[in-house]
Amino acid sequence: MYDWLNALPKAELHLHLEGSLEPELLFALAERNRIALPWNDVEALRAAYAFNNLQEFLDLYYRGADVLRTEQDFYDLTWAYLLKCKAQNVVHVEPFFDPQTHTERGIPFEVVMRGIKAALVDGEKKLGISHGLILAFLRHLPEEQAFQTLEQAMPFRDAFIGVGLDSSEKGFPPRLFERVFAKARSEGLHAVAHAGEEGPPEYIWEALDLLKIVRIDHGVRASEDERLMQRIIDEQIPLTVCPLSNTKLCVFEHMGQHNILDMLERGVKVTVNSDDPAYFGGYVTENFMALHEGLGMSEAQAKRLAQNSLDARLV
Ligand code: ADE
Ligand code: ZN
Repeated sequence: MYDWLNALPKAELHLHLEGSLEPELLFALAERNRIALPWNDVEALRAAYAFNNLQEFLDLYYRGADVLRTEQDFYDLTWAYLLKCKAQNVVHVEPFFDPQTHTERGIPFEVVMRGIKAALVDGEKKLGISHGLILAFLRHLPEEQAFQTLEQAMPFRDAFIGVGLDSSEKGFPPRLFERVFAKARSEGLHAVAHAGEEGPPEYIWEALDLLKIVRIDHGVRASEDERLMQRIIDEQIPLTVCPLSNTKLCVFEHMGQHNILDMLERGVKVTVNSDDPAYFGGYVTENFMALHEGLGMSEAQAKRLAQNSLDARLV
């Protein structure tokens, strides 16, 4: 029924690899690594996927990521995501990974990086999916730890294209990370950041002016600030919007309230992405389907959104 949406060539520019960990793989990795889980089965885990806000989701997301231990685990996680992409005509991906989520648990940085990178390279060779990996700093941790993470990453400089900023937004404004972003940019890395998901438009201004980001992750709260909207339109700064994520985390009460199509019609370079598909009920095609069903997205609008994603690639 939605073949026309699935068939559109698309890029995914906002995807947390750890958020693509499906419950079935989570249980399989727990068994492989002999880790006890607090849920009896996959159904019980899925039943826990009911969130009132970003933090409630993050608590479960970090808990789930604990089953990722070996290079093979990170390979399997990434490969499973790439197979989904192939099935949905996602031809290019720029995924995030959160090294601190793993190094804090004692998993060496290189284990994470090698597993992810090997799968991405295989994805290029065997599935024809191009990629650019983005290293995301956790904003609930101090900037000092972000600096340490960047240092650990530098021996692998060629394996990633940019840095991002994610995790709990409220109370952790972009300005806290101004220096580490300057350092990353001086290494030739692109800068992006989550801003204006739950946080106010001021955080989007800071991310643009202080972190000098070239793309805004989420950014849906920009619509509350007319001057900001005008800047985003004038400078054609892309927004990586995640509709199912936004409704699952109660950023919008229901899809009918989402502002993505209003922004599109105003000339904002908005794109459609899945954020954490294993937790939010769908990959890119399902996000397009939700816009069709909940917002009346037309075929012409879907085509523009898909084209925007290809135009907003960093590599
Ligand atoms: N980490 C994973 N998903 C996220 C989101 N939607 N916002 C902030 N941090 C995240
Ligand atoms: Zn995100």
